[in-house]
Amino acid sequence: MGKLRSSPFVCFSSHSTAIISSISLCFVQRASIIFLFLNFTNVSGVKFDPPIQLPGSRTSQYVSNSSTVLYIHDFGARGNGMSDDTKAFQKAWKIACSLSSEAKIVVPAGKKFLVRPIDFSGPCRSGLTLWISCTIVAPRDPDVWDGLDPNKWLYFHGVNYLTVEGGGTVDGSGKEWWARSCKINHTNPCRRAPKAITFHRCKNLIVRNIMSINSQQMHMAFTGSKQIVVSYLRISAPAHSPNTDGIHISASKNVEVKDCIIRTGDDCISIVSNSSKILVEGITCGPGHGISIGSLGKSNSRDQVHDVKVNGANLTNTENGVRIKTWQGGSGFASGITFQNVWMENVSNPIIINQYYCDSFVPCANQTSAVSINKISFVGIKGTSATETAVSFACSDSSPCRMLYLEDVQLTSYTGEITTSFCWQAYGSSSGLVYPPSCLLSSCNNRIIQQQAESGSIQSI
Ligand SMILES: *[C@@H]1O[C@H](CO)[C@@H](O)[C@H](O)[C@H]1NC(C)=O
Ligand SMILES: *[C@@H]1O[C@H](CO)[C@@H](O)[C@H](O)[C@H]1NC(C)=O
Ligand SMILES: *[C@@H]1O[C@H](CO)[C@@H](O)[C@H](O)[C@H]1NC(C)=O
Ligand SMILES: *[C@@H]1O[C@H](CO)[C@@H](O)[C@H](O)[C@H]1NC(C)=O
Ligand SMILES: *[C@@H]1O[C@H](CO)[C@@H](O)[C@H](O)[C@H]1NC(C)=O
Ligand SMILES: *[C@@H]1O[C@H](CO)[C@@H](O)[C@H](O)[C@H]1NC(C)=O
Repeated sequence: MGKLRSSPFVCFSSHSTAIISSISLCFVQRASIIFLFLNFTNVSGVKFDPPIQLPGSRTSQYVSNSSTVLYIHDFGARGNGMSDDTKAFQKAWKIACSLSSEAKIVVPAGKKFLVRPIDFSGPCRSGLTLWISCTIVAPRDPDVWDGLDPNKWLYFHGVNYLTVEGGGTVDGSGKEWWARSCKINHTNPCRRAPKAITFHRCKNLIVRNIMSINSQQMHMAFTGSKQIVVSYLRISAPAHSPNTDGIHISASKNVEVKDCIIRTGDDCISIVSNSSKILVEGITCGPGHGISIGSLGKSNSRDQVHDVKVNGANLTNTENGVRIKTWQGGSGFASGITFQNVWMENVSNPIIINQYYCDSFVPCANQTSAVSINKISFVGIKGTSATETAVSFACSDSSPCRMLYLEDVQLTSYTGEITTSFCWQAYGSSSGLVYPPSCLLSSCNNRIIQQQAESGSIQSI
């Protein structure tokens, strides 16, 4: 369990240009973020180029090392949590995006900015940083979205070389959305709620050191994007908030998610729809629904998810541990997926593959086509299960799971009973100590998958 932390602290430091030369900060579990400002505003000696003229500007913009710093309050933002600051963000983004050199938009600490649904669109002329050290809060009333795309709140698209960081908070004000969800109140119509932060068709993204809370639906979604590094996020929403996935990765490639703490109502991390080369490391989850590949194949869609490695996770009181779920009737595949070094505590379904997934009020019809599942490894998965069935492989009759591999699995019962494995149309092999005992059906070429697990299936991210 080398990757797991035994101390409640996750500390790191970051260096940035401009005003703050060194910040070190600690994430303290169940406490707020503590900032230690060292060497703060030691800007003497920084070379100032002539400030560029900005609308409503005072004197605070400056250019150093050809990086322009834009302060959000210079664009008319009030930061009192009541007045609408959307326009200020739009103006700052527009200017930052048009500059020929690196720009940094600073949203200062100690304030709360109310922002309505907003598009941060690219392409931009050069790299951009959005430095959030305050709280950005969404309108509480879902009716604000009337006539707008219900799927978006903070929406970044077509941006290349973007960094979002700063230690601040993004608050989706999800409470009223949850109350109106059909999953909470069955008499309500089912309608979509916004993803708090979406990155659509973006490239070369760094997202780090941000807290995302009370998202309306998903906290952070990457769609059709690539070259992404996500780290030191703290995500939280109540255990019963509907569809509040932590990090959702869809149709994206080369994504690294590291050292995040995710407590939410739905999947901790979900990976769907033609995503590949995904590395997930050092994740703490719970409550929530665990780490999930899928759902895949919904409404007869074709999905291809491959080269995924989850290495080092700690799940506590989650509904699932590591899961692959597919709908009947889909096509494509989930392949080359390794889950390793995962610690589970009182997890209801620690290891689960379900090819009969059906998240609908009406039962799903039985169909013959399926998203195929093969080359899936579970290595070093330990801890406790809240239910008797700690390992469950419910695979398709028409497209059985192949080359599943279990090694060094020790899942005992949280309440001191026995644990068991369930297999249906599940082929593969095991090695080392495996408890509950494997029920995989053997087939030939299983050697390949064992070698893959040993050498690590992802070489380059
Ligand atoms: C896992 O997380 C829980 C709760 O966050 C913590 O109490 C526990 O010590 C962690 N376990 C490991 C092995 O890091
Ligand atoms: C400017 O760039 C130089 C070289 O990359 C670096 O050493 C220096 O710290 C930077 N200064 C500021 C204020 O960012
Ligand atoms: C469910 O929604 C209906 C219609 O919107 C409302 O009248 C009812 O009070 C709600 N029930 C609960 C338990 O909130
Ligand atoms: C995924 O890729 C397949 C094959 O290239 C394509 O047919 C399918 O439409 C893609 N699915 C999505 C959701 O992009
Ligand atoms: C263990 O998990 C079960 C099922 O989710 C839950 O009811 C119970 O409260 C959990 N126990 C603890 C101590 O959290
Ligand atoms: C699907 O097949 C299973 C097993 O044969 C059966 O128990 C179930 O009722 C079927 N579901 C539907 C909706 O036909």
